Order: sequence, then C-alpha cells, then structure tokens
Amino acid sequence: MSLLKHTTEFCASYGLDVPIIMAPMAGACPVGLASAVSNAGGMGACGALLMDDGQIHDWASQFRDMSNGAFMLNNWIEEPAPARNKRQEEQMRAFLSGFGPDVARDAGDAPLLSFDAQCQAMLAARPTVISSIMGLYDEDMVQQMKQNDIRWFATVTSVTEAVAAEEAGADALIVQGHEAGGHRGNFLTPAGESVGLMSLIPAVADAVSIPLIATGGIADKRSIAAAIMLGASAVQIGTGLLRAPEADIAPAWADAIATALPEDTVTTRAYSGKLGRAIKNKYLAEIQKPDAPDPAPYPIQRALTAGMRSKASAENNIDMMQAWAGQSARLARDDEASDIISSLWSEVVAQFD
Ligand SMILES: Cc1cc2nc3c(=O)[nH]c(=O)nc-3n(C[C@H](O)[C@H](O)[C@H](O)COP(=O)(O)O)c2cc1C
Repeated sequence: MSLLKHTTEFCASYGLDVPIIMAPMAGACPVGLASAVSNAGGMGACGALLMDDGQIHDWASQFRDMSNGAFMLNNWIEEPAPARNKRQEEQMRAFLSGFGPDVARDAGDAPLLSFDAQCQAMLAARPTVISSIMGLYDEDMVQQMKQNDIRWFATVTSVTEAVAAEEAGADALIVQGHEAGGHRGNFLTPAGESVGLMSLIPAVADAVSIPLIATGGIADKRSIAAAIMLGASAVQIGTGLLRAPEADIAPAWADAIATALPEDTVTTRAYSGKLGRAIKNKYLAEIQKPDAPDPAPYPIQRALTAGMRSKASAENNIDMMQAWAGQSARLARDDEASDIISSLWSEVVAQFD
C-alpha cells in the first residue's frame, strides 16, 4: 500500500478521490464527459485550443452547473507563424480535393484565435489547474496563475523539457509518452525523438522533485499500476475515455478505437501540420506514398484539411476521418465515464492490496 502514498498525497492536494485526470482533448471534451469524470472523483478537463474567450467562459460555467469537482483548462502554447510555401499549398489543395470538398485558395489564411484572450478567459474561469502543451507559459502568465491560486501542469515529453518546466514554476508535470493519442507535446526535444513511458517516467522522476502525471497508452489497471510503480502520482487518460457515450465522437471513430491494435496507429503531420497519433486509414495510406505532397506546417495544414475532416465526420466516414488514438486504443471501454473512472481505480487498488 505504501506505493500508493504519493497518489494519496496528490489526491489530497487537488481534492480528488482517484488520481485519474481526463486528458484535455480539443474538439473532444464535452462538458458532460468532464463533469462525469469529476463527479466520479477524478479531474475533468477541457482543451481550449479551438474555443474563443466566450466559449471558454461558457464551458466553465456549464461545468460548474454539473459538478463541484476539480477541473483543468488547457491550451497549446502560441508559436510564431510559419513561413508560407504557396507551391506546396497548391499541391496539397489539389491532393485534398480527391478526399473532400475543393479547398478554397485562401483556406490557409484562416486566422488563429487570440492566445492572449484565451489565457485571460482561462484565468477568469478560476479552474483548479491550467495546463500547457507544446511549450511553457511565460513568466507573466505563471505569476497570474499563482496569484489566482490556479496550479500549472506542464506537458513534457523528455527530461530536458521536464527540467525546464520545473524551473519555470510548474506545479506538476504531465509526462507524455510516445504511446499517446493526439498531438505530441514536444517543444525542446524534436517530435520525432519521442520516448516511451517505460523509460521516460523513471528518468523524469530522477531529474525533478514535483509530482508526475503519466499519459499515453494508459487505459486499464495494468497500465495505471505500471505508471505508479515507475514513479507517477496520477495518470491522465485520453483515448481510454473516447468510447464513453458522453464523449459523443463519430461512431466510426469509436468503433475504430475498439479494434485498433498498437500497430494500427501512426504518428502523422497529415491532419494539422504537427505530429500526432491517429488510426491508420485510406487518407493516411495515400499521403504516405512517395508521390504525395508534403503536409504544410501547422496551422496551415489544419486549415487546408478542415473541409475534408468535417465532411468525414458528417458522413461518419473513417477513410478520411481524423481519428486520433493512442497505442492502447483497444483497451478503451464503452461504459459510462463515471463507471470507467471508478472501476479502473478500484481494480488498481485491489492489485496493490
Ligand atoms: C482527440 C484528442 C485530442 C487531444 N487534444 C489535446 C489538447 O488539446 N491538448 C493537450 O494537451 N493534449 C491533447 N491530447 C493529448 C492528450 O492530452 C494525452 O496526451 C493523450 O490522450 C494520452 O494518450 P492516450 O490517448 O493514449 O490516453 C489529445 C488527445 C486526443 C486523443
């Protein structure tokens, strides 16, 4: 039972009954899913990347109508706009028209939401935690979080990033392994050099003194227990919650998650321009062929693929759907989120007894 000491301390300091955090999944984090996780004693979450300040405010107030529990708001750290390559974009537009609707000539010019306004809205919502991915918040934001008694969880993918995040004032680290579904959080270490959790958690635990939250391929009692044995105080689950009815994702995506073997997922820049792990499909097979154009950088590629992605969701067509999933996808249960959270943790505790 002593192995669970650090999970007990973590739960006490965040008001949780179970050390399980919902992954903040931009585009796949309805309030109903987050509140169910919190009401089961875990921490609900919202990936705010695609939400403006009003939507962030509304999400938080709807959450509070449904739960008194802890919740996390998350955003990607802003980066400088990439250099444009019009020829590459032309080739990609032509390629994509074979999968979805024609892509407008100016599609790549779509502006991003204001990062500063999103940060102010997250602070104003007073969540338990604000988390970061793809970089670190600047000193001013870190200070504002501390003044408002909001804890900062920084997503890291390497020891180098972990040390930098601790020095910048993070209260805990979300340690993302190679197994993870969705985008890779790398910011100092090249995305192609990602490390599996088996090596990463102990190495980060030896290098920093703040609590670690393991994420990537965690979806059952074995993987949760392993993460704790390796040095994590809590786990963050993404794909493992996507088959819950509250997640409300396209049925074809949920079905693909149910059967995907670890080797059925791949990391790709084909949807957004940034590397992320998704289930292999027809679109990914075609774009990996040698004569296919290279994806444009983020956020251009994301804008260019928007039409194809929404058509795939509307038609429930897995062939060109952005079906993000981690390597343990097939372990995801199709139970209600509250049952997943509470049964997972009681199964873990029974293993340690
Ligand atoms: C659909 C989806 C969307 C995601 N969006 C975000 C995001 O907006 N911000 C973030 O920090 N992580 C995001 N992630 C990554 C998760 O936080 C986490 O690292 C990952 O889900 C862990 O791996 P698992 O899916 O195998 O549990 C996303 C993951 C998925 C599956």
